[in-house]
Formats: sequence, C-alpha cells, structure tokens
Amino acid sequence: MNAPPSERYDRAAEDVGNIVHLEHVNVTQPDQELATLFYVAGLGGTRDPYLMVGTGNMWVNFGRTQMHLPTRAPQRLRGTIGFVVPDLAALAARLARVAPELAGSCFAWREVRGAIEATCPWGNRIRCHAPAPEFGATDLGLAYVELDAPAGSAAGIARFYRDVMRAPVRVEPGRAWVGVGRNQHLAFVESEAPLAVYDGHHIQIYLADFSSPYRWLRERGLITLETDAHEWRFQWIVDPGDGRRLLQIEHEVRSMKHPLFGRPLVNRNPEISNAGYVPGSDAFRGRY
Ligand SMILES: [Fe+2]
Repeated sequence: MNAPPSERYDRAAEDVGNIVHLEHVNVTQPDQELATLFYVAGLGGTRDPYLMVGTGNMWVNFGRTQMHLPTRAPQRLRGTIGFVVPDLAALAARLARVAPELAGSCFAWREVRGAIEATCPWGNRIRCHAPAPEFGATDLGLAYVELDAPAGSAAGIARFYRDVMRAPVRVEPGRAWVGVGRNQHLAFVESEAPLAVYDGHHIQIYLADFSSPYRWLRERGLITLETDAHEWRFQWIVDPGDGRRLLQIEHEVRSMKHPLFGRPLVNRNPEISNAGYVPGSDAFRGRY
C-alpha cells in the first residue's frame, strides 16, 4: 500500500534558506580578447548581448548565472569557482582548441576525478562538473564557490551564515558548507597555508530577508557600500559569537526586488558552428 502523502514526500528537502541565489562572481581582468577565448570559446558561456557590451566589462552567461569581468588589473579569487556544464567531453575539446591562443598565460586544464579543472589566463581556478542530482535539475550554471579560509575559522564562518545571513549551514572537519537557493552552495575550506592578500573580487547573492542581515552588519560598522535601495555590500565575515574577523570577500547583496532579479539570460548552444550548421540549433536546450 502507498504511504500517506504526509510520509511520501520529504517536505524539508524543498526548503530554501535566506540566500536565494548566487548569481555572479566578479573578477577584474586586463584583456577582453583572452577573457573571451577562455570564458566564451573555451568554457562555452554566452556573452550577454544586452548589458556591458563594450570593452570595459563583459558579462558571460552560464544558465541563470554569470561571470562579471571588468577590464582592470587582474584579480584572483582565493578558492575555486564550480560550474555545471552539459558535456565534459565537449568542454575538453573546446579547451584544447583555445589552448594555443592562451599559451604564455596562466591557462591550464586537466581532467580530474570526473570533473575538469581549468585555470583562467590570470590564475582563477574553475572546476566544471557534469550534471548530477547534487546540483539539482540544471545542466549549466554556477554551482558553488569554494573559498580558502584560515585554520580554525570554519565553525565561526558557519555561525555567521546561520545566525546573520540566515542560511542553512553544515560544519564538517575543517570545512563549512552554506546552502544557497535551490541547489547552490558556498564552501569554506580551512587551509594552513597563508592566504593571499584580498584583492577586492566579489560574489553576488540575492536575499529574501534583505534587512535583518543589513541591520546586524550596520550596527557593527560592517556595511561597506550603500549602493541603492536594492543593494548593499559587506566584506568581512565575522564570528557572531565574539566579533572576530575571519575572512574577507566582498558580498554584493541584492534584494529580490532588485530590477535584475530573475532577469532572463541568453544562453547559446556552444557546439554549433557554421560547418554542419543545423537550423534551429542555436539556443542552449538544456535545463537551467
Ligand atoms: Fe557584481
């Protein structure tokens, strides 16, 4: 006999915390031509056709998420940016194709344990995974950002995201996990090695409860930018227990009333070319 509906479904599995979406990672870089080769021709993203179309910045779409790449001295995220891509073999072929043009830069790539790890021309580490249940019903997009953190900081970082940002967290030995939206996450991995000096790169998140974390941070002087009605920023992750400053990474925090929330992003099928072109195959057809 079937179980009653109350037992048939795991209702808690559908819960979402207060950070409803991790939309973009922003790293400045000095050369739009190399950035196009890596993020568009190589990784298979789609240059946003509507916004930031000049040479001063480039937004590259991956499903519902983006990389933001303003033209300035290069920044390097202290960790790894995780993507889901529809086809790792196709990704490997594209990376092999762009490799000669990226020779002499930090660019590198390798297959490792069912994923592909690529390094951008300026040293940012990207890990690409095939679609899998842990990433939800998505074939393309930013799945996580994994950040290096000082030894002994994981528990305090988890307390910050749980108590201040109101996100679901898990603490594992040497590691904090923060749930984001439907199937994304942030991870903080303790490292004994000294962290590089923070260079100002940022991540962007949307919050459902936009004002409670803001009030907590403002009372402690931790708001770094009052952008507009829909956005504020902070940089220090602090332990709410003792106020200890644990790790710097700018968070661009937007409300769900921000005009850009839920903006439809154009995604192409990176496998088509003019040779053997099939009419109607231009757009990305996967899930995101
Ligand atoms: Fe941003």
